[in-house]
Amino acid sequence: MKAREARVLLTGATGGIGRHVAARLVDAGASVLLAGRSPAQLAALARDLGGAGRERCDWHEVDLLAPVSIETLAGAAIPWRCNVVVHAAGAPAFGAVSSLAPPTVQRVMATNLVAPMLLTEALLPHLGRQPRSQVLFVGSVLGAIGLPGHAAYCASKFGLRGYAQALRRELDGGPVRVQYLGPRSTRTSFNEAAVEAYNRATGTAMDDPARVAMALLRQLEDEASERFLGFPERLGVRLNGAVPGLLDRIFAPHRRALAQARADEVQQGGTP
Ligand SMILES: NC(=O)c1ccc[n+]([C@@H]2O[C@H](COP(=O)([O-])OP(=O)(O)OC[C@H]3O[C@@H](n4cnc5c(N)ncnc54)[C@H](OP(=O)(O)O)[C@@H]3O)[C@@H](O)[C@H]2O)c1
Repeated sequence: MKAREARVLLTGATGGIGRHVAARLVDAGASVLLAGRSPAQLAALARDLGGAGRERCDWHEVDLLAPVSIETLAGAAIPWRCNVVVHAAGAPAFGAVSSLAPPTVQRVMATNLVAPMLLTEALLPHLGRQPRSQVLFVGSVLGAIGLPGHAAYCASKFGLRGYAQALRRELDGGPVRVQYLGPRSTRTSFNEAAVEAYNRATGTAMDDPARVAMALLRQLEDEASERFLGFPERLGVRLNGAVPGLLDRIFAPHRRALAQARADEVQQGGTP
């Protein structure tokens, strides 16, 4: 739908990508309900987006790790008359599988996969009553390519992509359109220094969050089902889908970069 018709519930609104998405949406004429953990940051963001869009920007506190908080958010978004949900909240998890602590694995799966599922399900009856509505999941290129050092994160985003695809097929023919956007690595505080070093060592490009926000606005308006950002990542997604065995052979630099990241961490006093 056109942005000016959209009343968007945006999770992760205070994040590096979320802030740009919120600004692009408001600029394009959408109303936005900003959702995040920090009331102070949300209120400041709503104020900053101000100007002509001010009356079109509201906010709501949510902790996506708490199911009751997700229900409360859905309960607020319904009378606010949301007709678009953009799931942009997310948690990172970088490191060799042998070094990932169980709470990290649980947090990344709960934030990136379970929370968007629960929020979507709480809102579906409402969305299904709208003439048209959209659910847009911010996934990742790593929801379609398994990368050394990102196993738990890949699991969460592959899962999210599978959920989006199944839901899209389940709801086909009705008013709810389900979409998945897969950005590649993006310059926000989501990526710790070790990820940036890994990206440099493996020649992995990083996008500006403003570019992701532009792509998201475009996808909202052209209603594409699934889109991945960046080259060669888009080609990688296609090849990985068609002939994953071929790609298995190209990740030696990534394994080396991961081992180096681990060695650096140990040198800086981390757990061996
Ligand atoms: N940056 C990348 O390289 C990249 C690449 C591809 C895809 N993505 C995806 O893009 C999305 C946004 O990433 P980003 O770079 O903007 O990350 P970010 O700057 O770290 O922002 C993450 C956002 O998620 C929110 N969040 C995390 N846990 C939450 C919880 N339990 N309850 C409520 N909100 C929570 C954060 O809220 P607080 O402000 O309260 O912390 C923040 O607003 C994520 O889904 C990420 O997986 C990122």
